[in-house]
Amino acid sequence: MVGDGVFPTTLFAGKRVFVTGGGSGINLGIARAFARLGADIAICGRTQERLDRAAQELGGLGARVVAKAADVRQPDEMQAAFEAARETIGDIDVLVCGAAGNFLAPADQLSPNGFRTVMDIDLYGSFNAARLAFDQLVRSRGSIIFITAPMAHVAHAYQAHVGAAKAGVEMLMKNLALEWGPYGIRCNSIIPGLVEDTEGLHRISDEAGRQSFLDHIPLRRMGVVEEIGHAATFLASPLASYITGTSLWVDGGQGLPGSGFFNRNGADFLAANPRGGR
Ligand code: COA
Ligand code: NAP
Repeated sequence: MVGDGVFPTTLFAGKRVFVTGGGSGINLGIARAFARLGADIAICGRTQERLDRAAQELGGLGARVVAKAADVRQPDEMQAAFEAARETIGDIDVLVCGAAGNFLAPADQLSPNGFRTVMDIDLYGSFNAARLAFDQLVRSRGSIIFITAPMAHVAHAYQAHVGAAKAGVEMLMKNLALEWGPYGIRCNSIIPGLVEDTEGLHRISDEAGRQSFLDHIPLRRMGVVEEIGHAATFLASPLASYITGTSLWVDGGQGLPGSGFFNRNGADFLAANPRGGR
């Protein structure tokens, strides 16, 4: 894999990383990247079996792992997950807010509860995690990485709920960078483009749509989860010690030409797959 061996495998030895939504996809890729560099890992999500599978894999990389089911919308559950992490591996040094929900839906057909559900998971859930990790991050002078999306910055059709939620997360990131900087806590975000073999990608496109996306990405390929992991380890590393309040696009240049390509695909995909196939 490109990037292997660039950082010493002890870079995060003795550090602890908590990843919300860490049981699958991009977030599990991020957890894996930290584990490969020596970190201990805590993950949460709603499905214990999924977390247990991920924990087994991360443990195989040498990490001590805490995997506790918690819904980011439920502060009590998140409090318990952070407590379990602290008791087992110690105060966390890095929080990754990656839990999210997405589906394609025309705004005029999206129910108020559908809109609110995505706002709750992405935005309210990110606040809950950051707020409830605050005391641990103060003690460790740690950092937070929020996982957002191009929809936070560029309007995309059928993504009103996601755009609003992720834009909120971007602003939350900047506010916390401002307020928590004096505690030594850095806050940044990663904006992944389209990432291969992920739930998020399958929720917005079929095979034909994915092929058509490629022509619109300057690097002419989608990203892979490892590349988002690399960005996260960089942002949490001492190499980024003076970087806070920043959004890092990891998208092969996808955001540069705008969202026209996405919108045309979305109309076709929704016509063939009502409710985005989900
Ligand atoms: N199109 C339109 N509306 C949808 C929808 C779809 N594909 N899927 C769910 N909704 C609506 C529901 O109809 C419901 O609204 P209603 O009560 O007015 O009918 C509302 O969203 C909540 O749905 P529910 O299934 O109860 O929510 P949940 O909390 O169990 O699940 C989701 C959250 C909907 C985001 C679900 O897709 C999920 O769990 N996603 C996580 C994985 C994911 O999205 N990965 C990609 C990350 S980019
Ligand atoms: P994914 O595998 O579905 O990841 C989402 C994770 O969040 C799942 O493990 C899910 O587990 C968890 N989750 C969902 N709702 C939750 C809740 N209420 N509380 C706790 N955990 C919850 O999807 P992905 O595509 O890898 O997406 C990961 C992140 O990357 C998201 O933030 C997404 O917005 C972002 N992103 C993805 C892409 C892409 O191309 N895929 C592009 C840009 C940004 P449970 O269902 O078990 O809870």
